[in-house]
Amino acid sequence: MSKDKIVILTGAGISAESGLGTFRDEGGLWAQHRIEDVATPEGFHRDPDLVHGFYNARRAHAAKASPNAAHTALAQLEAEHPGNVLIVTQNVDALHEKAGSKNVLHMHGTLAGALCGRCDHRWPAPPEMHKDDLCPACGSAATRPDVVWFGEMPYHMDDIWTHLAQADTFVAIGTSGEVYPAAAFVQEAAMGGAHTIELNLEPSTRVSDFAETCFGPATRIVPDWVTQELSR
Ligand code: APR
Ligand code: ZN
Repeated sequence: MSKDKIVILTGAGISAESGLGTFRDEGGLWAQHRIEDVATPEGFHRDPDLVHGFYNARRAHAAKASPNAAHTALAQLEAEHPGNVLIVTQNVDALHEKAGSKNVLHMHGTLAGALCGRCDHRWPAPPEMHKDDLCPACGSAATRPDVVWFGEMPYHMDDIWTHLAQADTFVAIGTSGEVYPAAAFVQEAAMGGAHTIELNLEPSTRVSDFAETCFGPATRIVPDWVTQELSR
Protein backbone atom coordinates (compact mmCIF):
# COMPACT_ATOMS: atom_id res chain seq x y z
CA MET A 1 0.00 0.00 0.00
CA SER A 2 1.46 3.39 -0.97
CA LYS A 3 1.73 6.04 1.76
CA ASP A 4 1.28 8.79 -0.80
CA LYS A 5 0.01 12.18 0.38
CA ILE A 6 -3.03 12.73 -1.86
CA VAL A 7 -4.54 16.19 -2.41
CA ILE A 8 -7.90 16.23 -4.20
CA LEU A 9 -9.52 19.35 -5.68
CA THR A 10 -13.25 19.03 -6.28
CA GLY A 11 -15.67 21.26 -8.18
CA ALA A 12 -19.37 21.39 -8.95
CA GLY A 13 -19.13 18.36 -11.25
CA ILE A 14 -18.71 15.96 -8.31
CA SER A 15 -22.10 17.06 -6.95
CA ALA A 16 -23.88 17.14 -10.33
CA GLU A 17 -25.16 13.55 -9.98
CA SER A 18 -26.52 14.48 -6.54
CA GLY A 19 -28.81 16.90 -8.34
CA LEU A 20 -26.89 20.12 -7.60
CA GLY A 21 -26.32 22.30 -10.66
CA THR A 22 -22.89 23.15 -12.01
CA PHE A 23 -21.98 26.69 -13.09
CA ARG A 24 -20.74 26.54 -16.65
CA ASP A 25 -22.43 23.49 -18.15
CA GLU A 26 -25.42 23.91 -20.45
CA GLY A 27 -28.18 25.57 -18.34
CA GLY A 28 -25.82 25.96 -15.39
CA LEU A 29 -26.13 28.50 -12.59
CA TRP A 30 -24.28 31.17 -14.57
CA ALA A 31 -26.73 30.73 -17.43
CA GLN A 32 -29.60 31.48 -15.01
CA HIS A 33 -28.05 34.33 -12.97
CA ARG A 34 -25.47 37.04 -13.71
CA ILE A 35 -22.34 36.49 -11.61
CA GLU A 36 -22.06 40.23 -10.99
CA ASP A 37 -25.57 40.27 -9.52
CA VAL A 38 -25.38 37.28 -7.14
CA ALA A 39 -21.71 36.43 -6.53
CA THR A 40 -19.88 39.72 -5.97
CA PRO A 41 -19.70 42.12 -2.99
CA GLU A 42 -20.95 44.90 -5.31
CA GLY A 43 -24.00 42.83 -6.28
CA PHE A 44 -24.75 42.17 -2.61
CA HIS A 45 -24.43 45.86 -1.77
CA ARG A 46 -26.73 46.74 -4.70
CA ASP A 47 -29.45 44.19 -3.93
CA PRO A 48 -29.00 42.11 -0.75
CA ASP A 49 -32.50 40.63 -1.09
CA LEU A 50 -31.65 39.15 -4.53
CA VAL A 51 -28.39 37.67 -3.23
CA HIS A 52 -29.94 36.25 -0.04
CA GLY A 53 -32.72 34.78 -2.22
CA PHE A 54 -30.14 33.12 -4.50
CA TYR A 55 -28.26 31.54 -1.59
CA ASN A 56 -31.43 30.65 0.35
CA ALA A 57 -32.58 28.63 -2.69
CA ARG A 58 -29.16 26.93 -3.04
CA ARG A 59 -29.04 26.25 0.73
CA ALA A 60 -32.50 24.61 0.64
CA HIS A 61 -31.57 22.55 -2.45
CA ALA A 62 -28.22 21.44 -0.97
CA ALA A 63 -29.85 20.51 2.37
CA LYS A 64 -32.06 17.98 0.53
CA ALA A 65 -29.19 16.54 -1.59
CA SER A 66 -27.43 13.27 -0.77
CA PRO A 67 -23.81 12.37 -1.41
CA ASN A 68 -23.25 10.18 -4.48
CA ALA A 69 -20.85 7.28 -5.14
CA ALA A 70 -18.01 9.70 -5.91
CA HIS A 71 -18.27 11.45 -2.52
CA THR A 72 -18.55 8.08 -0.79
CA ALA A 73 -15.50 6.71 -2.60
CA LEU A 74 -13.39 9.70 -1.48
CA ALA A 75 -14.52 9.16 2.13
CA GLN A 76 -13.49 5.50 1.81
CA LEU A 77 -10.09 6.58 0.43
CA GLU A 78 -9.55 8.88 3.44
CA ALA A 79 -10.51 6.05 5.82
CA GLU A 80 -8.44 3.28 4.20
CA HIS A 81 -5.44 4.97 2.51
CA PRO A 82 -2.36 4.74 4.81
CA GLY A 83 -1.13 8.19 3.67
CA ASN A 84 -2.80 11.58 4.25
CA VAL A 85 -5.83 12.44 2.08
CA LEU A 86 -6.98 16.08 1.87
CA ILE A 87 -9.98 17.34 -0.08
CA VAL A 88 -9.84 21.00 -1.13
CA THR A 89 -13.31 21.78 -2.43
CA GLN A 90 -14.60 24.76 -4.40
CA ASN A 91 -18.10 23.57 -3.53
CA VAL A 92 -20.20 25.21 -0.85
CA ASP A 93 -22.40 22.13 -0.30
CA ALA A 94 -21.70 19.68 2.57
CA LEU A 95 -21.79 16.47 0.52
CA HIS A 96 -18.18 15.48 1.27
CA GLU A 97 -18.88 15.72 5.01
CA LYS A 98 -22.25 13.94 4.63
CA ALA A 99 -20.36 11.08 2.89
CA GLY A 100 -17.97 10.84 5.87
CA SER A 101 -14.93 12.84 4.70
CA LYS A 102 -13.33 14.71 7.62
CA ASN A 103 -10.23 16.32 6.13
CA VAL A 104 -11.99 18.91 3.93
CA LEU A 105 -11.07 22.56 3.25
CA HIS A 106 -13.85 24.71 1.72
CA MET A 107 -11.88 27.36 -0.16
CA HIS A 108 -15.08 29.12 -1.31
CA GLY A 109 -16.84 28.89 2.07
CA THR A 110 -20.08 27.01 2.77
CA LEU A 111 -23.84 27.52 2.47
CA ALA A 112 -24.03 26.26 6.07
CA GLY A 113 -22.14 29.30 7.33
CA ALA A 114 -23.22 32.87 8.06
CA LEU A 115 -20.82 35.81 8.37
CA CYS A 116 -21.15 39.35 9.73
CA GLY A 117 -19.86 41.91 7.25
CA ARG A 118 -19.24 44.30 10.12
CA CYS A 119 -17.41 42.30 12.82
CA ASP A 120 -16.43 39.05 10.97
CA HIS A 121 -18.38 36.93 13.48
CA ARG A 122 -19.35 33.49 12.04
CA TRP A 123 -22.23 31.24 13.06
CA PRO A 124 -24.31 28.41 11.59
CA ALA A 125 -26.58 29.87 8.91
CA PRO A 126 -30.36 29.54 9.43
CA PRO A 127 -32.24 27.90 6.56
CA GLU A 128 -33.15 31.36 5.25
CA MET A 129 -31.12 34.54 5.68
CA HIS A 130 -32.52 38.05 5.15
CA LYS A 131 -30.93 41.46 4.92
CA ASP A 132 -32.50 42.64 8.20
CA ASP A 133 -31.14 39.70 10.23
CA LEU A 134 -29.00 40.97 13.08
CA CYS A 135 -25.50 39.69 13.81
CA PRO A 136 -25.64 37.67 17.08
CA ALA A 137 -22.33 39.23 18.18
CA CYS A 138 -22.50 42.93 17.29
CA GLY A 139 -26.19 43.37 16.49
CA SER A 140 -25.56 44.94 13.07
CA ALA A 141 -27.87 44.21 10.14
CA ALA A 142 -24.80 43.20 8.09
CA THR A 143 -25.20 39.45 7.79
CA ARG A 144 -24.25 37.56 4.62
CA PRO A 145 -23.71 33.96 3.52
CA ASP A 146 -20.19 32.80 4.48
CA VAL A 147 -19.26 32.13 0.86
CA VAL A 148 -16.37 33.66 -1.11
CA TRP A 149 -17.50 35.96 -3.93
CA PHE A 150 -15.60 36.96 -7.04
CA GLY A 151 -12.98 39.55 -6.12
CA GLU A 152 -12.63 38.14 -2.58
CA MET A 153 -9.72 36.05 -1.26
CA PRO A 154 -10.52 32.32 -1.05
CA TYR A 155 -10.15 30.73 2.39
CA HIS A 156 -7.24 28.52 3.67
CA MET A 157 -4.88 29.53 0.84
CA ASP A 158 -1.66 29.36 2.91
CA ASP A 159 -2.49 25.81 4.03
CA ILE A 160 -3.50 24.81 0.51
CA TRP A 161 -0.25 25.97 -1.10
CA THR A 162 1.71 24.08 1.57
CA HIS A 163 -0.27 20.87 1.00
CA LEU A 164 0.11 21.16 -2.78
CA ALA A 165 3.90 21.48 -2.47
CA GLN A 166 3.97 18.30 -0.33
CA ALA A 167 1.52 16.24 -2.46
CA ASP A 168 2.66 12.98 -4.07
CA THR A 169 -0.61 12.75 -6.01
CA PHE A 170 -2.93 15.62 -7.03
CA VAL A 171 -6.36 14.80 -8.40
CA ALA A 172 -8.87 17.31 -9.84
CA ILE A 173 -12.46 16.08 -9.98
CA GLY A 174 -15.47 17.81 -11.59
CA THR A 175 -13.97 21.23 -12.18
CA SER A 176 -13.72 23.22 -15.40
CA GLY A 177 -10.41 24.84 -14.45
CA GLU A 178 -11.90 28.24 -15.31
CA VAL A 179 -11.44 29.97 -11.94
CA TYR A 180 -8.20 30.93 -10.22
CA PRO A 181 -6.46 30.24 -7.91
CA ALA A 182 -7.91 26.68 -8.03
CA ALA A 183 -7.07 26.39 -11.74
CA ALA A 184 -3.37 26.85 -10.91
CA PHE A 185 -3.25 24.04 -8.32
CA VAL A 186 -2.27 21.37 -10.85
CA GLN A 187 0.85 23.28 -11.93
CA GLU A 188 1.77 24.03 -8.30
CA ALA A 189 1.46 20.34 -7.40
CA ALA A 190 3.41 19.22 -10.49
CA MET A 191 6.23 21.65 -9.63
CA GLY A 192 6.41 19.95 -6.23
CA GLY A 193 6.82 16.59 -7.99
CA ALA A 194 3.24 15.30 -7.70
CA HIS A 195 1.66 12.92 -10.16
CA THR A 196 -1.40 14.77 -11.50
CA ILE A 197 -4.74 13.27 -12.53
CA GLU A 198 -7.88 14.84 -14.02
CA LEU A 199 -11.15 12.95 -13.43
CA ASN A 200 -13.90 14.83 -15.26
CA LEU A 201 -16.93 14.42 -17.50
CA GLU A 202 -14.95 16.05 -20.32
CA PRO A 203 -11.51 17.68 -20.71
CA SER A 204 -11.20 20.88 -18.65
CA THR A 205 -9.40 24.00 -19.86
CA ARG A 206 -6.33 22.82 -17.85
CA VAL A 207 -6.35 19.27 -19.28
CA SER A 208 -2.90 19.60 -20.88
CA ASP A 209 -1.38 20.27 -17.42
CA PHE A 210 -2.33 16.78 -16.16
CA ALA A 211 -0.09 13.70 -16.46
CA GLU A 212 -3.10 11.34 -16.44
CA THR A 213 -6.76 11.85 -17.37
CA CYS A 214 -9.96 9.83 -17.23
CA PHE A 215 -13.28 11.10 -18.56
CA GLY A 216 -16.77 10.04 -17.61
CA PRO A 217 -19.39 10.63 -14.90
CA ALA A 218 -17.84 11.04 -11.44
CA THR A 219 -20.04 8.31 -9.96
CA ARG A 220 -18.29 5.81 -12.24
CA ILE A 221 -14.71 7.08 -12.67
CA VAL A 222 -14.05 8.20 -9.07
CA PRO A 223 -14.92 4.85 -7.41
CA ASP A 224 -12.87 3.09 -10.12
CA TRP A 225 -9.88 5.34 -9.40
CA VAL A 226 -10.22 4.87 -5.61
CA THR A 227 -10.33 1.06 -6.00
CA GLN A 228 -7.19 1.21 -8.14
CA GLU A 229 -5.45 3.59 -5.68
CA LEU A 230 -6.26 1.39 -2.67
CA SER A 231 -4.93 -1.72 -4.44
CA ARG A 232 -1.55 -0.11 -5.27
N1 APR B 1 -19.06 13.98 -13.42
C1 APR B 1 -17.83 14.56 -13.53
N2 APR B 1 -17.65 15.84 -13.98
C2 APR B 1 -18.76 16.55 -14.30
C3 APR B 1 -20.07 16.01 -14.21
C4 APR B 1 -20.19 14.67 -13.74
N3 APR B 1 -21.38 14.08 -13.62
N4 APR B 1 -20.96 16.96 -14.63
C5 APR B 1 -20.22 18.05 -14.95
N5 APR B 1 -18.91 17.80 -14.78
C6 APR B 1 -17.77 18.70 -15.01
C7 APR B 1 -17.95 19.61 -16.22
O1 APR B 1 -17.45 18.97 -17.39
C8 APR B 1 -17.10 20.82 -15.83
O2 APR B 1 -15.74 20.65 -16.24
O3 APR B 1 -17.70 19.56 -13.90
C9 APR B 1 -17.14 20.83 -14.30
C10 APR B 1 -18.02 21.93 -13.74
O4 APR B 1 -17.41 23.15 -14.05
P1 APR B 1 -18.02 24.51 -13.45
O5 APR B 1 -19.49 24.51 -13.67
O6 APR B 1 -17.18 25.62 -13.99
O7 APR B 1 -17.81 24.37 -11.88
P2 APR B 1 -16.48 24.60 -11.06
O8 APR B 1 -15.27 24.20 -11.84
O9 APR B 1 -16.67 24.00 -9.72
O10 APR B 1 -16.47 26.22 -10.89
C11 APR B 1 -15.43 26.75 -10.08
O11 APR B 1 -16.44 28.92 -10.22
O12 APR B 1 -18.28 30.26 -10.27
C12 APR B 1 -17.27 29.79 -9.45
O13 APR B 1 -17.47 29.65 -7.13
C13 APR B 1 -17.83 29.00 -8.31
O14 APR B 1 -16.71 27.22 -7.14
C14 APR B 1 -17.14 27.65 -8.42
C15 APR B 1 -15.96 27.93 -9.33
ZN1 ZN C 1 -21.28 41.45 13.78
